[in-house]
Amino acid sequence: MKEKVAVIGTGRMGSAAAERLTGLGYEVILWNRTREKAEELAQRINARVAATPFEAVQEAKYGLLFLSDEDAIYGVLSGFHRMDGAVIVNHATITPQASKRYEGFVKALGGCYVEAPVLGGPSAVKSGKALFVAAGERMCLNTARPVLEDLAGELVVLGEDTAKAAGLKLAFNSLLIGTIELLAESTVLAESYGVDPETFKDVLSRTVFAAAAEKYIPRMRRDPGEPASFTLRMAMKDLEYALRAGYPFDIPQPATAGTHAMYRTASRIGYANSDYTRVYHAIKGKRD
Ligand SMILES: NC(=O)c1ccc[n+]([C@@H]2O[C@H](COP(=O)([O-])OP(=O)(O)OC[C@H]3O[C@@H](n4cnc5c(N)ncnc54)[C@H](OP(=O)(O)O)[C@@H]3O)[C@@H](O)[C@H]2O)c1
Repeated sequence: MKEKVAVIGTGRMGSAAAERLTGLGYEVILWNRTREKAEELAQRINARVAATPFEAVQEAKYGLLFLSDEDAIYGVLSGFHRMDGAVIVNHATITPQASKRYEGFVKALGGCYVEAPVLGGPSAVKSGKALFVAAGERMCLNTARPVLEDLAGELVVLGEDTAKAAGLKLAFNSLLIGTIELLAESTVLAESYGVDPETFKDVLSRTVFAAAAEKYIPRMRRDPGEPASFTLRMAMKDLEYALRAGYPFDIPQPATAGTHAMYRTASRIGYANSDYTRVYHAIKGKRD
C-alpha cells in the first residue's frame, strides 16, 4: 500500500479523486460535511472516514481539498491547528487572492500549501485523464508532486506563485463557460429560424468551432433533470470569481459579466443544480 492521503470534500470531484487514489493503492482518509456521503463512499472504495478534516490531515500529513468554494475552504481551514510538515493541496476553483490568503494561513501553522486546480470533470479525474495545473513553493511542490502525478493525466507546473494557478484556472473557466453560453445562445437563434440543432452542429463541425459544437451541442440539449457533472451553480461561482480576479487590474470583462448575468437568471429560474450546459434550456425557455 502507498502512503496515506486525506480527501476533504467528497462531492463530485472529491469522490472521483478518492476512487482513483484507492485504485492506485493509496490509503485514503475521507472527510465530508455531510458525513453519510463520506461513509457511503468509504464503503464502496475501501477507505476510512475521519471525524474532522484536521484529524484526517494530521494522520495523513497530506490533505487534498475538493470543497465547493472559498467560504467552505475558510470554514475548514479555520478548524486547523499546528500541522508541521503537512501538505495541503487545494483543487477547488478559487480567486488568486484567496489562494494567497490560504497559503499564508497554512504556512503560519507550519504546513505547506499548493494550488492545483483541475481542468476536467469527475469522469476525467476518475479515469486519470484530467489536466492539472499546480503552483507553490518548490519544497511544497516537490512533496506534493508524486501524488499529483498519480492523480493527473497531465500536470503543468507554473512555479512558486500560487496565484498563477488560481488565475489560470479562472481564465480557462471564463473562456469555457462563456463559450457554452454563446453556443447555447446561437443554437437557440438558429432554431428560431427553423434550423435544427443537428444541422447547426453539422455546419459548425466544418468550421473552427468543430470540437466545441460536437462535444457540447448534444450535452446542452439533454434533460436538465439528469445528474450534473458540473453544476450551473458552481459555474456561476466561477464566473463571479473570474470577475473579482479582474478587478485589481481594472480589466474590462463584458463577456464574462454577460455570461454571469445569464447564469444568474438560469439559476433563479430553477437550473442551479442542473449541469452547467443546460443554460441552453434556460435561454430557450425565455424565448418560448
Ligand atoms: N465538477 C467539475 O466538473 C469540476 C471541475 C473542475 C473544478 N471543479 C471545482 O471543484 C470544486 C468542487 O466541485 P464539485 O463539482 O465536486 O462540487 P460538489 O459536488 O457540489 O461538492 C462540493 C463539496 O463541498 C462541500 N461543501 C460545500 N459547502 C461546504 C461548507 N460550507 N463546509 C464544508 N464543506 C462544504 C460539499 O459537502 P456536502 O456533501 O456536505 O454538501 C461537497 O463535499 C469546486 O470548486 C469546483 O468549481 C469542479
